[in-house]
Parts: sequence; C-alpha cells; structure tokens
Amino acid sequence: MPKRFHLGWFTNFTPGDWTSAVSTGTGGWDGRFHVDMAQAMERACFDYIMLEDTLMVSEAYRGTSEAALKHALQVPKLDPMPLAAMIGAATRHLGVVGTMSTMAYPPYMLARLAVTLDNMTGGRFGWNIVTSGEDAAAQNFGMHELPPREQRYEMADEYVEVVKQLFGSWQPGAVVMDRETGTYADFTKVRPINFEGKYFRVRGPLNTVPAPQGRPAFVQAGGSPRGRRFAATHADSIIATANGAKAMKQYREDVRAHAAAVGRNPDDVKLLYLVYPTLGETDEEARERHRRTISHPNFIEASLAAIGSITDIDFSVYDLDKPLPHLTTNGEQGSLDRFAQWGSGKTLRQLAGERFEGGIDLIGSPETVADKMAALMEEIGGDGFLISSPFQRASRRFVAEVCEGLVPALQRRGLVRTEYTGKTLRETLLEF
Ligand SMILES: Cc1cc2nc3c(=O)[nH]c(=O)nc-3n(C[C@H](O)[C@H](O)[C@H](O)COP(=O)(O)O)c2cc1C
Repeated sequence: MPKRFHLGWFTNFTPGDWTSAVSTGTGGWDGRFHVDMAQAMERACFDYIMLEDTLMVSEAYRGTSEAALKHALQVPKLDPMPLAAMIGAATRHLGVVGTMSTMAYPPYMLARLAVTLDNMTGGRFGWNIVTSGEDAAAQNFGMHELPPREQRYEMADEYVEVVKQLFGSWQPGAVVMDRETGTYADFTKVRPINFEGKYFRVRGPLNTVPAPQGRPAFVQAGGSPRGRRFAATHADSIIATANGAKAMKQYREDVRAHAAAVGRNPDDVKLLYLVYPTLGETDEEARERHRRTISHPNFIEASLAAIGSITDIDFSVYDLDKPLPHLTTNGEQGSLDRFAQWGSGKTLRQLAGERFEGGIDLIGSPETVADKMAALMEEIGGDGFLISSPFQRASRRFVAEVCEGLVPALQRRGLVRTEYTGKTLRETLLEF
C-alpha cells in the first residue's frame, strides 16, 4: 500500500477565469461558482478549500493600479468569510479555510468569527494565519508602512496566544442546557482571560459557545526562516511554496525539525505544496494548452504584476532580457525566492514564463500527472499538494479536470483518500 497524501485547493473570492468559455456563469460574485467548486472537491475527498485574501489594490507595478485591475490580479475580490459560511452550508465533509490577517482584525473579533464559522461548519473551519505583506494594506489600517517581518511575527505570536486563550475561555462542560434548573450555561466555566501583552489587551471571555474543534484548525504559509518557525509552532497545515523537489524536501525537513524542537509531533503538521497542474486529454493537448497560456500577449506583464503585488516589488524597472539582480522584500520572501530561481542565470522574461511551474513539470494527461505527483511525493516524503490555477483563475473545466480526472487517477493508485472518515477538519488532516 503506498503512503497516501493530502489535497487542498487554493483559490479566492474573485471571478475565477472570466476569460474562459466555460466560466463562472453568473459573474462569480454570488458565491455559487465557488460552492459548485467546493462540492466537486468534496466529491473528490479533498481535505480543504483554502480561500486566500489580501486587503489592498496593488500599485506595485509601475506605481499604478492599472495592471492589477486590468488583469484582475487578486482584485477585484470579495471578503472570503461569508463565502466560507456559504460553502460550509453546501458541504458536509470538506474543510473550509479562510484567510484573516493579524494586522487587520482585533483578536476578539477574529476569535469570535472563527468560532462562529467552526460552529456553522460543524468543526470544519480553518484559519489561514497571515500577517499581511504589503505597505498598501498597512495603509488601510492606519499605518504608514508594514512593520518589519520580525516584528509582524512577534505580534502574530502574541496574537495567536490571545485567540487561543479566547477559544479556551469556555471550558469543557460550560454549556449544560439543564432543563430542570433552567440553566443554559454554567457561568463558573466561562472565564475572563485578562490578557495583557506587549501588543494586545483583551479581557474575554468570548460571548460565543465553544468551537466544535476546541480551536479551529490553523493553516499558515510563513516561508522565511522566522515564518517557518512560526508555522511549525502553530499550524496544523502549512501551505508551502518552493522551487523544485529538493527545496520542497528541505522545506519539510526544516519545519518538521522546528516542530519537534517546540515539543510537537512533526506528523501533526501537514505540509501541502502549491502546484499548478496543466491537464489535457493527452500529454500533447496539455502541452499545447500550457504553451497557449504562457504565450498569451498579457501573460508576462500579468505574471510580473502578480508576483510584484505580493512582494511589493516593481518588476517593470528591470530588463526583461537580463537576469534579475538579487532582491529581498518585507513582503512574501518565500514567493520571491521561488519565482526568482536565484543563481539559475535565467532572464526575467524566462522567470515570468515559468512563474507557475516552480521547478516541477505537472503538465500532461491525468494519468501522466498522477504518476509525476506520485514520484514527487515519494521524493519529498509528504504530505500533499495544494492545487491552484494561474492567477487563481479557476474555470469549471479545470475544476472538473482535476476532481473528475486527476483525482480518480490518484485514487486508482491508492495515493489519496476515497472517502472521509473524520468529522472535523483536524480529524481529516490527522487521518494519515
Ligand atoms: C500558498 C500560499 C498562500 C498564501 N496566502 C496568503 C493570503 O491569503 N494572504 C496573505 O496576506 N498572505 C498569504 N501568503 C503569504 C504568507 O502568509 C507569508 O507571508 C509568505 O509565505 C511569506 O512568508 P514570510 O512572511 O515568512 O516571508 C500565502 C503564501 C503562500 C505560499
């Protein structure tokens, strides 16, 4: 029996592939397309659908919002939390992960919303913990610029501590619902937390009920050394980006070592690698589709503007036909490293063209891609993949190709689940 791996899907509340002939249908803004997607993923037994979010209109490329809005790069987009509730109501097993930034939400509001969604989904909610990575987002929350990364993570460590205490402010057995005495909740088991830290002060308790999972599942994507430490300390699942199998394996070993160092069982942290498969009836058809995607006249600019928006770097100032100088960012360093393939000698144009491969080739028929994924997972050691489409432009066709073509091919190889055995998202993640 081969070792099984986990599957997640990376998307957001944007109109999907609005250019595709078989697109979102209703314009994409009523949530129904995403519900259909989620139901397809549930039939394919995915662990979770992950709803990305950011809080700004990027002007990183050429100093204006033109490219971001023209190419619909993460904007326009709607708030993922109501969508998470809608998806939760339309599914029974699939985990629903929503992104909320520690920079944007007061911890009490975040904890309350997360407990609400965990209840509404019967214990299937996950919080993607992000600290935000763009000055433009910070400027929407009263700051002139983002705090430096180290400080963002220091704040996030304290933030996670506060919300954990809030989740625990309802002790087990607090809800008694005793009809004889007419008692709903036992007040002695609902306690203030009186948290006073360096950054946050919260009295508590939450005015909710407990979360079915105790606390919602935590998902995180810190890619920098500090970010990996943070993720390994807190996350039930890490969504990771790395360039090529070797870097993916090293990433996993790194976070597993950090998890062990803070006293966690490394097997409790499931690392899912972001991948962008291109599928077709045949390998040739898939190659042709991929060639068409990357040779579209808008592809290079959209690619550079998209990576620019999450790294706060204006790539328009660099020569497309020369290698990129070494850069660092206070934004998404991990995504920059994956994109830049440091030391490869490739030109910026080549890098932009390869933006979605990340050093691995998942192009082909469902059978071919299933074999490639199997080989890759074998080499890395675990724990799964986070599937997405370029610019998060999912189409109905792509979702069907993955959920009804690729996943069955993986299931036939015994590599992914064919039914859910757990009830909550955490149980699903810990199933194997
Ligand atoms: C797959 C993936 C998904 C991410 N989703 C979000 C997101 O929805 N919102 C956000 O602000 N940042 C998101 N990030 C950024 C991470 O939270 C993190 O800031 C980034 O990976 C860089 O890590 P670092 O902060 O340790 O440098 C994502 C990163 C990855 C790799």
